[in-house]
Amino acid sequence: MQLKFDQVTKSYGPVRALDGFSAELTDGIYALLGPNGAGKSTLMNILTDNLKQDSGQILFNGVDVRELGVRFREKIGFLPQHPGMYEHFSASNFLRYMCVLKGIDRRQIDREIEGALTAVDLSEVASRRISTFSGGMKQRLGLAQAVLGSPDVLILDEPTAGLDPKQRIEIRNYISRIASSKIVIIATHVVSDIEYIAKSIIMLKKGVIADFASPAELLGRIEGSVWNLHLKKEEAQDAINSHCVVSVTKDDTGVTVRVLSDRQPSEDATSVPPTLEDYYLTVFGTQEKTPKQGE
Ligand SMILES: Nc1ncnc2c1ncn2[C@@H]1O[C@H](COP(=O)(O)OP(=O)(O)OP(=O)(O)O)[C@@H](O)[C@H]1O
Ligand SMILES: [Mg+2]
Repeated sequence: MQLKFDQVTKSYGPVRALDGFSAELTDGIYALLGPNGAGKSTLMNILTDNLKQDSGQILFNGVDVRELGVRFREKIGFLPQHPGMYEHFSASNFLRYMCVLKGIDRRQIDREIEGALTAVDLSEVASRRISTFSGGMKQRLGLAQAVLGSPDVLILDEPTAGLDPKQRIEIRNYISRIASSKIVIIATHVVSDIEYIAKSIIMLKKGVIADFASPAELLGRIEGSVWNLHLKKEEAQDAINSHCVVSVTKDDTGVTVRVLSDRQPSEDATSVPPTLEDYYLTVFGTQEKTPKQGE
């Protein structure tokens, strides 16, 4: 399968949310990584036909998705960033309703619902009303509806928002397991959600692709540029002010400041292996407040 974005552009009044977005995706997991306002949801809403681009095209196996219409929409599963749900439905009735909307064969529906509920660990509350669910439970139900019918293209907008660390790992592993022979696109600003499962990472900055490569290639770009400075407490503030700081860790003997620098920042600085979080900060800046999970 191939999904091709060709110069997709969208503005909201004076704000250019997407600016000539072009990319070619094949089977595998793609992370759409960027801070708040980067344009991730705008791209996903255009891809799922919930929003119209100003210009540009999206092609699925060479055919414009607008031309394919329902023939494309029945191939996709979508978890929106803020899914609206029928709160008075039970979880299983909601999924049944979604199965009907998706045109899933009636004989398959029970099995589909059971599989999806098990995958997101909601089997035990299948008959409870959605209005009684916590935020994390609703989020998992949203993911369950997205995977019904095993869609070819799975589009997940912040799938782990509101989940606790254990659930995040479970959902991440589940997505990884079902991803074979699918195109999966995951929008997130949480690097740890995607660093071990994404084939490629699209770094989106103010509607423009800032980088697009495998996690290993991205790490290679900052190899030798991440340093630990071991300082006394009273020296730390000066170092923090004069470097691009990733993190500051205090212990009994002093302070370790992790910094990004093309050159060895001081004689006693030690080079450390880069992480994707480091690379995220080189692209998006350390000044930008990285939002907490679920914001
Ligand atoms: N309906 C709208 N009306 C006006 N501006 C909008 C609208 N939706 C999005 N924007 C603007 O478009 C830009 C991209 O927004 P978008 O929601 O696509 O970003 P995002 O990467 O999904 O951010 P987040 O991580 O917060 O979900 C932002 O500047 C945002 O303020
Ligand atoms: Mg968004």
